[in-house]
Amino acid sequence: MIRKANCKINLGLDVLRRREDGYHDLQTVMFPVEGLYDIVEVSRGDLCGAEFRSEGLVIDCPDDKNLCLKAFRLMHDRYGVDGVRIRLDKRVPFGAGLGGGSSDATAVILALDELFDLRLDEQTLIGLAAELGSDTAFFVRNTPQLCEGRGEVMTPVDIDLKGLWLVMVKPDEGVSTKDAYSGVVPAVPETPLVERLTLPVWCWQGVVTNDFEESVFALHPVIARVKERLLKAGALYASMSGSGSTVFALFDSEEAVSSLRDETPYIFRL
Ligand code: C5P
Repeated sequence: MIRKANCKINLGLDVLRRREDGYHDLQTVMFPVEGLYDIVEVSRGDLCGAEFRSEGLVIDCPDDKNLCLKAFRLMHDRYGVDGVRIRLDKRVPFGAGLGGGSSDATAVILALDELFDLRLDEQTLIGLAAELGSDTAFFVRNTPQLCEGRGEVMTPVDIDLKGLWLVMVKPDEGVSTKDAYSGVVPAVPETPLVERLTLPVWCWQGVVTNDFEESVFALHPVIARVKERLLKAGALYASMSGSGSTVFALFDSEEAVSSLRDETPYIFRL
């Protein structure tokens, strides 16, 4: 079974407070990006445990720690699934704030549910995914969602960006999610994010914000410059995604977007 494990961007991100368990409560709207994805192939085989192979972008963690295998182990422990081959073709940059690893993990859970005919309901799948990370649950739904709590409490939101152009630039420098959180001063905004997102997209800049930008930009000025460049190129709205380092921008003109084709391969019509 082959699944496209697409990535996401964050349309705004508010870090509300630090929790007792070391995590942070946040509010963010996650939006799926169908155009950029990893390929996750999962098949049953005559073997014990799971065999994992990855190709494409070289991942900076040992196979054993890969979220695909963690997802298998979780499903093995809970439901006894066994004898699985997983092939990951990695295309989504990592350390990027695009949720690539999280999407892979969820893709494995969903594939195993189908391959072993487990027929788990959505809430169970969300619960399983949430055990593996904070962005993982979103990919069970994979439609625009307000994500709260650690990121796993979801409410669908009606945000239509159809017809706009999405440009994503991944600077060479990556950002560790853990470090990004440690630089943020949590605060509850006056107007909730979903309310600010009801404004037209051209009103979002400076209103729909990402709390990670300040501290991440201070540590990595290169990322701040990418955002400035995208706004100068005519973006309606530009922001870092998640904890970075990817910066994305929304455009309504194809002409403006063409000037960026030399800079990034990640340009999509929504
Ligand atoms: O859950 P995930 O692996 O994405 O998180 C990586 C790290 O980011 C966590 O170990 C935690 O330090 C931090 N984090 C947090 N609050 C969140 C999500 C992540 O503090 N809501």
